[in-house]
Amino acid sequence: MAHSDSKYYTIANASEPLQVTGRGLDILNNPWLNKGTSFTPEERDALGLRGLLPPYSADMEEQVQRSMENYRHKTDPLDKYVFLTGLHDRNVTLFYRVLMENLTEMTPIMYTPTVGYACQQFGHIYRKNRGMYISLHDKGRIAEVLDHWPSSSVDIIVISDGSRILGLGDLGANGMGIPIGKLVLYVAGAGLHPARTLPILLDVGTDNEELLSDPLYLGITHRRVHGDEFYEITDEFVRAATKRWPHVLIQWEDFTNDKAFPLLERHRESVLSFNDDIQGTGAVALAGLLGSLRITEQTLAEQRIVFFGAGSASVGIAEMICTGMSDESGITLEQARERIWMCDSRGLVTTTRGDKLEKHKIPYARSEESAKSLRDVIRRVKPTILIGASGRPQTFTKKVIEAMHRRCDRPIIFALSNPTTKSECTAEQAYNWTNGDAIFASGSPFHAVRVNGKIFVPGQGNNMFIFPGVGLGAVICGARKVTDEMFYMAAKTLAHMVTEEELNSGTVYPDLGKIRQISLAIATAVCRLAYDNGLARYAEPEDIRQHVRDCMYHPDYRPYVAA
Ligand code: NAI
Repeated sequence: MAHSDSKYYTIANASEPLQVTGRGLDILNNPWLNKGTSFTPEERDALGLRGLLPPYSADMEEQVQRSMENYRHKTDPLDKYVFLTGLHDRNVTLFYRVLMENLTEMTPIMYTPTVGYACQQFGHIYRKNRGMYISLHDKGRIAEVLDHWPSSSVDIIVISDGSRILGLGDLGANGMGIPIGKLVLYVAGAGLHPARTLPILLDVGTDNEELLSDPLYLGITHRRVHGDEFYEITDEFVRAATKRWPHVLIQWEDFTNDKAFPLLERHRESVLSFNDDIQGTGAVALAGLLGSLRITEQTLAEQRIVFFGAGSASVGIAEMICTGMSDESGITLEQARERIWMCDSRGLVTTTRGDKLEKHKIPYARSEESAKSLRDVIRRVKPTILIGASGRPQTFTKKVIEAMHRRCDRPIIFALSNPTTKSECTAEQAYNWTNGDAIFASGSPFHAVRVNGKIFVPGQGNNMFIFPGVGLGAVICGARKVTDEMFYMAAKTLAHMVTEEELNSGTVYPDLGKIRQISLAIATAVCRLAYDNGLARYAEPEDIRQHVRDCMYHPDYRPYVAA
């Protein structure tokens, strides 16, 4: 079998008996070792477990069945979230087995939308430590804090300052649910090893009054710091993290866009890092658009695209679209940008508005008269694609969508704002108001809709299709950096994995149930690029795809023997 010197291989596939030093309750109370009722009689004898468990030795399938029975008794999504978190706290292997066998059902619980509500309630539902917190009070001692993490092998850190959690705004230290949730998806979706992931919440204060006055809030009661004070702490974190774990991948997550863009630029060339809200969103949206254009049989460069929202997500998507147009049709990035119109809270982003534009908007500012309302922009631009990433619910009104449909037979409408309550319109509205002509995708999941007797299955532009595969690929070849080209390749790879049957039902994304195959294909493409561009630290395996497959973690119990 092909091998590279990637350290990852041995970890993911260890199947020989594990020498366990602890005994009895030490093992049962350790979620990384605990197998619950699945310990065999031999293991129970060897490890001092006899009598501490019911006598019947269950297999994992029976444990999954029991977990699912309990899970399905719960009707409230937040209760389901708490239940699954509790399962993780008791038995990590079983948690991932349950999750992976029921991924489509549980992703909306472990991630958007439920994770958003879990973050809002974080201080109230908190049960147990998980991941790490770095706060303003740790400035000057972050290396010491990181040394408290028990593992010297960390492949990936997801870090957030909780300032822009989904579309829910500043949730301060409560934002911890997001790095945790993202890393769970890395493991389930691509097979990164759970013991080598580290969620971090960077608590630089909050401006959320409700939290500041909530007696159960668990973060520091300090207003957010900005500017030099903020970057001093993030720079110190990057130095400390890469000193302790030199090859670690750092994913910046849910920072407000005044920090997200600078953080990405500051570190992307020197440290293996990326921002999923910008780059991952860009790739997943582009993949959906490429799928949509397979339905309309058009090219990207033929499109006229209106963005509602001009923040991290929109700019990330726009950049990726321009790369795609340029790659497909040979036009320049500037020519590609002429096909894009962006609206922010002040209306159409133009150079004529008289306000000082944020840096990330400048490449997309048009030199035409501004327009206040989205409907006016639609009337003027006659877009073929409308993308919502504003966090403003119900802004794609009937009038807006009808105005678009009047000038475009098959309007492509992506209402990406999360969670569901923030979506610019629902799937039902988009299909009903266009008589089924819309090609619709959303950020949070919507159920299938019947219009004129035909069932439409809306696609979910879930970043989960992209980031796990990109992360796995970058980690296992030891990439020195994550490039935009890797995300572009990921988008194209994903778009190719949508079947004709899926397109016929109106969905432009593949079934989430195929996530491991998708991540395998994306990670393989990312490794390929890293090797071709001299960005990989580890030796190239004979067969990259097989190597990626071998590296993927599967939640199976290893046999134990006493050390
Ligand atoms: P952001 O805060 O960087 O940007 C929001 C933008 O919306 C800003 O440009 C703001 O000016 C604009 N905006 C606010 N009110 C507006 C109004 N009334 N009219 C027009 N524009 C308005 O946030 P980010 O990161 O871009 O995320 C935006 C939304 O997209 C969030 O709800 C987020 O959950 C969602 N999102 C969805 C993803 C997906 O579906 N895969 C991935 C990333 C983000």
